[in-house]
Amino acid sequence: MESKDAFRITGGSRLVGEVSVSGAKNSALKLMAATLLAEGESTITNVPDIADVHIMEELLTRLGCTCSYDPKLQLMKINVPAVPGHRADYDLVRKMRASINVLGPLIARVGEVEVALPGGDAIGSRGIDFHIKGLTDLGAQARSEHGFVIATAPNGLTGAEISLDFPSVGATENLMTAAVLAKGTTTIDNAAREPDVVDLGEFLISMGAKIEGLGSPTIKITGVTKLNPTTHATLSDRIVAGTWAFAAVMTQGDITIRGGRVEHLEVPLDKIVEAGAVVTSTDDGFRVKMDRRPTAVDVATLPYPGFPTDLQPFVITMNAIAEGNSMVTENVFEGRFMFVNELQRLGANIHVDGHHAAVTGIPELSGAPVAATDIRAGAGLVLAGLVSEGVTTVEDAFHIDRGYPGFVESLRALGAQVERI
Ligand code: UD1
Repeated sequence: MESKDAFRITGGSRLVGEVSVSGAKNSALKLMAATLLAEGESTITNVPDIADVHIMEELLTRLGCTCSYDPKLQLMKINVPAVPGHRADYDLVRKMRASINVLGPLIARVGEVEVALPGGDAIGSRGIDFHIKGLTDLGAQARSEHGFVIATAPNGLTGAEISLDFPSVGATENLMTAAVLAKGTTTIDNAAREPDVVDLGEFLISMGAKIEGLGSPTIKITGVTKLNPTTHATLSDRIVAGTWAFAAVMTQGDITIRGGRVEHLEVPLDKIVEAGAVVTSTDDGFRVKMDRRPTAVDVATLPYPGFPTDLQPFVITMNAIAEGNSMVTENVFEGRFMFVNELQRLGANIHVDGHHAAVTGIPELSGAPVAATDIRAGAGLVLAGLVSEGVTTVEDAFHIDRGYPGFVESLRALGAQVERI
């Protein structure tokens, strides 16, 4: 999977035209894991053809499921056995953190689970203490040992009142998928409100789960004894849609983003308007038009509905070429400024102090070889290449392929000079 591909970009093009947004990676992966909750065949549509989806397929296959994916139709069928396996090994978990999402469904369904600890990655340390504490509240015996999270609940789970210290997306998802089959009622306070969490909740409801309060800070789940397989369409990817919006602003372009949902991007689109762009709704998405150099904007990342940490690399990159000075504050993942070193190689004037980045805008960056450190940082560097004088090569493009199906093709269709090498 980790190919040696790089993207070679010649800067200077204005991006103009239409682009379609795929199904959300961070939703599709969780829906796939949640199929484990019911024996039989579930169907998920609008599943993007990206590396992480194939890793989740491999993980589910090792757990005894039969998966079939049609990339043309973006259709995933998963047939779950009566008793799935219960172990997710390190070789898969280290490639994709979302592997941890089998924890909730397996403890609920099988009564035991062992998932390798994901460890940290290039965006910071990523704990799982909230997951373990919540499962313990539900009556499981959960601990981390020899590099695995091991949880058992031989007599099943019991509903509980759970309060999260931080509205963690992954912990909310694992606890929701565990509680749907618990005896009695569970409330999750300070729950994550991300659209991905709502999509997963709606998927579970279509399987027969009883869930209230999705999208609010308190989710209430009344356990049922059995869930049924279902059919569901993955919601569209707000981070990919947001990426295209920033691409339009930075290249002073005009992009119609089909399938993009403005209601999932209110804060980032407000920032884009503040930077000088015109955003309008269309029949099936929205359009971002920009006809001047952007004005720098201050941003602080926060859990949804705040400014998403996954769009932070794009706002930093935009500010790097904007008129004026700005401050970007990262409140979700402490390691997320690592890619700033790469932007500096392109001439960006950025000073990082802890979780603040002070950016002084310059008119143009200067093309150079750089390396992607994670999915969003990688895509941010590609956008930086579009507004750099000369040629930029973004190495380790496999990171970008994890989140952006057909990225190079879409960029070229919009007029970018970019190729995969
Ligand atoms: C998900 C997304 C990721 C996004 C993030 C925040 C997936 C596969 N990934 O990641 O793209 O950037 O939401 O929107 O959906 N934390 C703990 N202990 C825990 C759990 C989390 O300390 O038990 C901390 C993390 O270290 C981090 C913060 O909470 O600082 C937020 O993490 P979380 O919301 O759980 O993110 P993920 O679900 O890992």
